[in-house]
Amino acid sequence: MRRCCILSMTLLGGASSSLAGVTVQKMGLTVPAEYASQRAAVEKIFTTSYAAYKEFAFGHDELHPVSKGVGDDLGGWGVSLVDAMGTMAVMGLDDLLEEAVNYTATIDFNTPPVPQIISLFETTIRWVGGLISAYELSDEKYPILIAKAKEVTDKLAFAWVGNNTIPFNDINFTTNTPHVGTNSIAGIGTLSLEWLALSHYTGNATYGNLAEGGVITVAELPSPLPGLAGQTVDPTINQFTDAYVTWGAGSDSYFEYLLKYARYTNNANNIFIDTWKTAVDSSIHTLLRNSTVGGHMYLADYDDQQLIRHVGSHLACYYAGNWLLGGKLLQNQTIIDIALQLNDGCWNTYASTETGIGPETFAFISLDGNFTGGSPITDDQLAFYNQHGFYITGSDYIQRPEVLESNFYAWRVTGDTKYLDRAASAIASFNKYLPTAVAFACLNDVDDTTQGFIDDMESFWFAEVLKYLYLTFDDPTHISLDTHVWNTECHPLKAPPALDSYAGSGKLIPQKPFTVPTGAGSAPAAVGSGTRSS
Ligand SMILES: *[C@@H]1O[C@H](CO)[C@@H](O)[C@H](O)[C@H]1NC(C)=O
Ligand SMILES: *[C@@H]1O[C@H](CO)[C@@H](O)[C@H](O)[C@H]1NC(C)=O
Ligand SMILES: *[C@@H]1O[C@H](CO)[C@@H](O)[C@H](O)[C@H]1NC(C)=O
Ligand SMILES: *[C@@H]1O[C@H](CO)[C@@H](O)[C@H](O)[C@H]1NC(C)=O
Ligand SMILES: *[C@@H]1O[C@H](CO)[C@@H](O)[C@H](O)[C@H]1NC(C)=O
Ligand SMILES: *[C@@H]1O[C@H](CO)[C@@H](O)[C@H](O)[C@H]1NC(C)=O
Ligand SMILES: *[C@@H]1O[C@H](CO)[C@@H](O)[C@H](O)[C@H]1NC(C)=O
Repeated sequence: MRRCCILSMTLLGGASSSLAGVTVQKMGLTVPAEYASQRAAVEKIFTTSYAAYKEFAFGHDELHPVSKGVGDDLGGWGVSLVDAMGTMAVMGLDDLLEEAVNYTATIDFNTPPVPQIISLFETTIRWVGGLISAYELSDEKYPILIAKAKEVTDKLAFAWVGNNTIPFNDINFTTNTPHVGTNSIAGIGTLSLEWLALSHYTGNATYGNLAEGGVITVAELPSPLPGLAGQTVDPTINQFTDAYVTWGAGSDSYFEYLLKYARYTNNANNIFIDTWKTAVDSSIHTLLRNSTVGGHMYLADYDDQQLIRHVGSHLACYYAGNWLLGGKLLQNQTIIDIALQLNDGCWNTYASTETGIGPETFAFISLDGNFTGGSPITDDQLAFYNQHGFYITGSDYIQRPEVLESNFYAWRVTGDTKYLDRAASAIASFNKYLPTAVAFACLNDVDDTTQGFIDDMESFWFAEVLKYLYLTFDDPTHISLDTHVWNTECHPLKAPPALDSYAGSGKLIPQKPFTVPTGAGSAPAAVGSGTRSS
């Protein structure tokens, strides 16, 4: 227990509003010997996948594992290798890591190799989160990783224009100007961990303050339901452009980071934890439902017409792990109990298909209705529903992690080995249904193996699916829920050190300046005179 309680005591004058000193993981947890082979099984999937990426797509964003072609939709700077670095560090694949670090040192962020608009959100969670996490996980051996994180973030910072506290998402890296348009609350709210971490390592408080400012603005806007913001915001007028409430796409990681940022900063500003608690309480009152078959619990959506939509998604299934983390930090058994039932509901989407892998989107029927906002249920879907208590509306599996992410939290929090069995079952399914001649692909239909592959291997296959699975079977004290906070791309960040430079009230006071190294032809990019005035 080397967590810092002194800071919270000093700043907040008491433990009542502090999150320190609470244990998330079950004490004394160990992985039983009978699961010993699972870690190696995950590592083998990783090394096979990465060897193919290296052979056919090194330096590109993604390998297309069926055609052996490449994809470059995320800047073209090699996002798979940066997303994979932290997993290499966790698995002890030191040579692969150093090779990826050396490549990263050569990247010039001033121009995407394939002309395209760069996403603030995607670049933050994969690049900034990946670089800083790999720096920490490799015991700070490669300072170039922080230098590159700073370079790309200095470009991303052009997303804030004039006095806007809310950034635009889409940036032209050639001109350093953003495209004017609405932003999602996930796009606004999923920067704070990474940018504050960068402030910590560079001694420049601007990064953390920019990221935090957008979240605070959203949290203070009048919302459709208490604590539950709409999905999109116009950054030029600071107003919601819709009133759609969901824990799924577009909104998901805004809610995720309200909690995690509170944890990361040890609750130095109460707005984050207060908004999260209100959002959860409001969700329990308004969104929580059980299916009429099997009693599977889920959080419905609440649309612009204030109608409940009985829908679910692989993405939204992170909510179970997030509520477990929050329930433990707040020591609230009500939230923990609901989280475990939500987790079971999500796992049921894996347990019910031909492949044992869960689909992208699905829907439910509850006592108060079956409206989804989409097509009415078909006879086939109804037959599936009557058997499984949910039905599939989007049948693909695109290597998403969220169900296994929540399963990881459930294992670490409860110590119940049924979660290890579930993870082992997913590993077996991946080995049976995803391998191509060279790597692992996505599926068109998790419930019909004749539908074949989607020719993609996502960077988050390396970053998220395989890291969450590996950590599920790893020594729970190695990277613990009590020492790290995971970004939404499964890049763990050490929780306590960032507190050294966080002085509460939304302002950072740099106390540990970090000397940005130059080297490997990677002098930090100069910050030009873009449209951002502050
Ligand atoms: C990385 O670069 C360093 C410095 O050039 C070199 O010594 C090292 O061998 C390289 N490592 C790998 C794995 O390529
Ligand atoms: C970025 O801006 C430059 C200069 O105006 C323009 O030529 C280029 O097409 C823009 N890039 C994209 C992807 O829109
Ligand atoms: C801190 O970072 C911001 C954002 O890139 C930049 O504009 C500013 O010049 C930096 N401040 C210092 C003192 O380097
Ligand atoms: C920014 O805010 C200041 C103070 O409210 C105001 O004087 C200035 O005109 C604003 N600038 C822009 C570009 O809106
Ligand atoms: C625990 O959380 C539930 C759901 O938000 C809430 O109703 C309850 O008041 C909380 N309990 C405590 C002791 O704060
Ligand atoms: C769902 O079912 C459980 C147990 O069957 C029950 O405790 C809970 O109150 C139900 N929740 C809702 C939202 O209907
Ligand atoms: C769906 O809801 C409509 C309207 O309440 C109802 O008529 C219909 O029977 C329901 N369908 C199923 C499968 O429950």
